[in-house]
This record gives sequence, C-alpha cells and structure tokens, in this order.
Amino acid sequence: METQTISWPAKDLSRIPFAMYHSPEVYAQEQERIFRGPTWNYLGLEAELPSAGDFITTVIGDTPILVSRDEQGKVHALVNRCKHRGAVLRREACGNAKDHSCIYHQWRYSLAGQLESVPFQRGMKGEGGMPADFDKSKIHLDELKVEVYKGIIFATFSAQAEPLLDYLDAPVVYEIDRLFAKKIKVLGYQRQRIFGNWKLYNDNVRDPNHGGLLHMFHATFGLYRLSQVGGAKLDRKHRHNITFNQLGTDDAEANAGYSDTKKVFQSEYQLRDTAMLQNKKEFADPVTLVILSVFPGVVFQQIANSLCTRQIRTRGLNEMELYWTYFGYEDDDQAMTDHRLLQANLCGPGGYISMEDGEAVEIVHKASFTAQDQHAIVEVGGKGEIRDSGNLISEMPVRGFWSYYCELMGIEPGSAEMAKQAAAQTPLQKAAA
Ligand SMILES: [Fe+2]
Repeated sequence: METQTISWPAKDLSRIPFAMYHSPEVYAQEQERIFRGPTWNYLGLEAELPSAGDFITTVIGDTPILVSRDEQGKVHALVNRCKHRGAVLRREACGNAKDHSCIYHQWRYSLAGQLESVPFQRGMKGEGGMPADFDKSKIHLDELKVEVYKGIIFATFSAQAEPLLDYLDAPVVYEIDRLFAKKIKVLGYQRQRIFGNWKLYNDNVRDPNHGGLLHMFHATFGLYRLSQVGGAKLDRKHRHNITFNQLGTDDAEANAGYSDTKKVFQSEYQLRDTAMLQNKKEFADPVTLVILSVFPGVVFQQIANSLCTRQIRTRGLNEMELYWTYFGYEDDDQAMTDHRLLQANLCGPGGYISMEDGEAVEIVHKASFTAQDQHAIVEVGGKGEIRDSGNLISEMPVRGFWSYYCELMGIEPGSAEMAKQAAAQTPLQKAAA
C-alpha cells in the first residue's frame, strides 16, 4: 500500500494502521527519514573497544557501520562500505587491527577511515593502474557524527540532529546515569532473530501492559505484575519510554485483577531453585525493573540484576534481529557476575520472558498482513493527551513512539484527508452493512 493511501483516523494515535508494518514504500522512507534522519542511534559500548585499533561492526537501520578507535583514542563511526565499489569493508563482529582493508580489491583505510593505499595504483611498467589525477587524500569512508555519553556510543547521519543530551532529555539521562553510574564490563551477547517488522518490537517494548499478561513467568513468580507499584515515564516528545516497577509490592489481592484470565498467586507453582528470582539490592532506590527504550532502536534493561542493552537491527521489511549485550560492573565479585549470568536466561531467543516477545511480534506480523485496511486499537491507559503513567496498565508510550515517528515521516494523523479515507468503507464492510 502506498504511504499516501494509508489511513490514520485518530489524531491521538489511538489507531495504528496495520499497513505501516507491511508497506515496502514505508520501509524505504524509514531508512531515509528515521535511520539516516535527525535521530541518535546506539552503536555499542566503549567497553567493547577500549584500546587503539579495536573495532566493532553494527548497523543503523540497514546501513552497515564500522565503529573504529584510532591511534589517538578517538571513536569513529564510519559507514562500513568501501568507497571503491561499495563492498562491505569489515565483515567480523569485532577485532583489533592496524587498518581496515577491503577483501575485494585491497583498498586500505586508516583507523579513522582515510584511504591510505590502493594496490597497483601506478600499474606495472607504465601500464594499468589508476589515472595520474587519482588523489587518495580526497577519499574517506563516509563518517557520522558521534557522541559518547557514560560510555554509550551514539551516532547520527544528520547535521540537523539536536545535541545528544537534548535528544535523550532529562528522564532518560536520569536512568542512564543510574544504570551507568559505575564502570561496566561486558559479560556476553545473544542474538534473537524475529520474523516481524521492526516497529512491532518498538510497540512491544513500550507496552508495560503486556509485561504482566504475556509474560507468565514474570507474573507467576512476581518479578513483574500489573498489580505492583510502577509506571511509565516519557521524554518531552514522547519518543522514548521508561517502564519501571518494584517487585514485592503486591499480594494475593492481585488475583482480583487477573481473574478474567488466570490467577498469579498459585501455591502449586513453585521454583525449586529461586536464585533466578532474587534481586540483590544494588541501587539506592527501590526500583527492581527498568525498561528504557530510546527512539528509534535501543533498549536499556535492568531486570533485577540482569543488565543489558538490546539493539533493534532491521533486516528488511519482514524481519529484525535483537542484539543483546549483557554487562555488569567492573567491581562485581564472582558471585555477582554468576548471578547476572544466571538471570541472563530471562532474555534472548530462549529467554523465560523474551522468547514470548519474539512470538508476539511474529503472530501480529503474520495476522495483520491480511488486514492492511484495518487498525490496531491503542487505548489502554486512556486516549487523548500522551502523558506519564502512575501504573503499569497502560500502552500510552506506544502512542508516544508513533507521534514522533509520524513527525519524522511527515504523516499527519487524523487530518481531514485521512479521516475521509477512513470513512470510506471497504467492499467487505459495505457488504456486511
Ligand atoms: Fe515483553
């Protein structure tokens, strides 16, 4: 479906067109207006490339990125694509090198992305090679603007992007300061392939309501229930979201709220080993879970003592990958590191909770394909103004994501033209009337 024929009947974004998850035209525009637009994109953690010559490869949307630390210690975000014929330059996930050479024709670049040598540039015996006016000094890998905050590396393609801290805004900066108050150490990675559009995961992670309904491990064993103290905070543009809760703040009365589906306090369900559920107190506040999602594609997580980043990597219209980077603090003792690694089992492709998020994205993607003239209903927590929530029974941050998304994509939800389109019934609806 073409972008201009997609209907957005609700100005407050309480209706999301299913076509937005399935349109190739929309997907192409997102790459340009969102990922290569005025957004700050997470690339990784400085702890992953501490020394000169260290590098990691990642993506911003579909664009391959090489993050490279030069001899002076400066971190560069370079498009990971040789300027010669466009081949991917670095194919490893990470490493250490003196320079970066393309496998195709061995064009060699400095750690900062400057072209340094071309094999047979002058040819042989006066024959072949590059023309005499070829100037290596004028060829540099495309470079992005980088800002590093608390050891987190962000980059943007756009000269018009706000400064990083303005983009993140105070509530997000507060949570980053809390989570990255100490020096971190990376503990490991997981990758989770999900066959669904990348925005469905953004919807998922901005929806505290599902956390206590889909994730029955959470609800049954009490790590997260909708009946607990918690809420959702948003930045001034509603594009980012912080969901938080405090385990142990509810009791069997929660069953009243859950009664339509199932009870969460059930004596027959017990874990023999409860270490997985343990929160070893390490923050000054009583918050035991924080899911901080930053537009357009990264999540920072604290679930009890499991800390990680989740990067959303697009893989075309119908597929995405979650790239999980687990971390602890440099001053953790072995017991704490072991505990964090144990709780890492909550997440990733086989995680006690994350497996279900992948499944949820896939079943929405699959079923909504044949309903592209219809809309998702997003009203839990209220309609109208998008605001913070003092409880977890809300999906308001989902509307926040879409409001900034529409701003960047040039979509005006609820405009007269859109409303007219929405009013026009489909043949099926006419037949049913
Ligand atoms: Fe979830």
